[in-house]
Amino acid sequence: MNPILDAIEVDEIRDDFPILQQKVHGKPLIYFDNAATSQKPRAVIEALNDFYVHYNANVHRGIHALAERATKEYERARERCARFINAESPESVIFTRGTTESINLVAYSWARNNLKKGDEILITWMEHHSNTVPWYQVCEHTGAVIKRIGLNPDGTLKLDDLDKLITDRTKLVAVTQVSNVLGTINPIRLIADAAHRKGALILVDGAQSVPHMAVDVQALGCDFFAFSGHKMCGPTASGVLWGKRNLLEAMPPFLGGGEMIREVWPDHAVYNDLPYKFEAGTPNIAESIGLGVAADYLTRIGLDRIREHEKEITRYALARLEEFSDIVVYGPRDIEQRAGLVAFTVGDIHPHDLATFLDQEGVAIRAGHHCTMPLHKKLGITATARASFYLYNTQDEVDVFIEALRKAKKFFGACPTGRELGY
Ligand code: ALA
Repeated sequence: MNPILDAIEVDEIRDDFPILQQKVHGKPLIYFDNAATSQKPRAVIEALNDFYVHYNANVHRGIHALAERATKEYERARERCARFINAESPESVIFTRGTTESINLVAYSWARNNLKKGDEILITWMEHHSNTVPWYQVCEHTGAVIKRIGLNPDGTLKLDDLDKLITDRTKLVAVTQVSNVLGTINPIRLIADAAHRKGALILVDGAQSVPHMAVDVQALGCDFFAFSGHKMCGPTASGVLWGKRNLLEAMPPFLGGGEMIREVWPDHAVYNDLPYKFEAGTPNIAESIGLGVAADYLTRIGLDRIREHEKEITRYALARLEEFSDIVVYGPRDIEQRAGLVAFTVGDIHPHDLATFLDQEGVAIRAGHHCTMPLHKKLGITATARASFYLYNTQDEVDVFIEALRKAKKFFGACPTGRELGY
């Protein structure tokens, strides 16, 4: 089997994504902002349409035909998501609105009830705000403290002193599997084993890994795993929290309301079983169904092949970026340790100016701090430009992106920089 998607296959894949057929500012759209959100294939768009046109109804409540069909499809989506990450059972797959909500669920339900003053939460310098701020809030509430795993100069985690960093007071290690800025792929199993040796739990932010590589939550050895649907060809406001069953069973509900109860008495409530205990109110039915379809879509193409395809594009982009003498690329150069995204700066050009210029050329990239202000502070910069790739991107698109960068350099190079003017 050819591990890399060949040109014909990519053409076929691109046909699945109607949005890619358009022009932006008169130029063919080159969408390199996949780490922010991916585009959606017809299968997902049609699944949303099908729900609203044919069987829109609430789940787990009605006994009429539409409600039964909605419930069946919603639970089928849960089974699809469970298979996608090799969860041991669909009951341990909680539908949420995305990674942020999944992490907050653990912060509110587990951490606030299990941490006390002086306990430690170990995160890393490369965490997204969604895997940082909820832990700050837990610390404010409980008196626990944050510690961080440092970075090597190549953007990998400094793990040589991990066994010292995880102490008897560490209750939780919360780490991303893939950095949304450095692209670093972290060795989760190694970190999980170190956490468990000290009796700590590990939560993994899978927002940037699940869309791009095969993920097996059991093989990773984690306790909680969070990811979003919208970065993996699924709808916005869809996502999953997976957790070990014994942990989820022991946790109190996050939100109270309908669906999460078994009985409600005048003075108390008896909570529902998993997963419903954590799905209060009418859930994101259409979005979760769409997420299940997205999981099957990616599985059909093959996550290993998607990863290989992205490796090729990233390798090529890194090589071409080196043509610029004043470029700084962040994150590991070793493609085995880097996912399909590249954050960079070019000379003194502000990343926002660069992104605006590239947009005029039809190239969509993201610029800014990418919801990782502590990481950017650590790197001594305020912003980076970021190109992030997916299964439908091509090397030809990288060529256009490089030419657009060249034009940008010429355009901005015409203006003297602050440094040249002496301030
Ligand atoms: N977390 C998303 C990104 O990195 C929004 O762009």
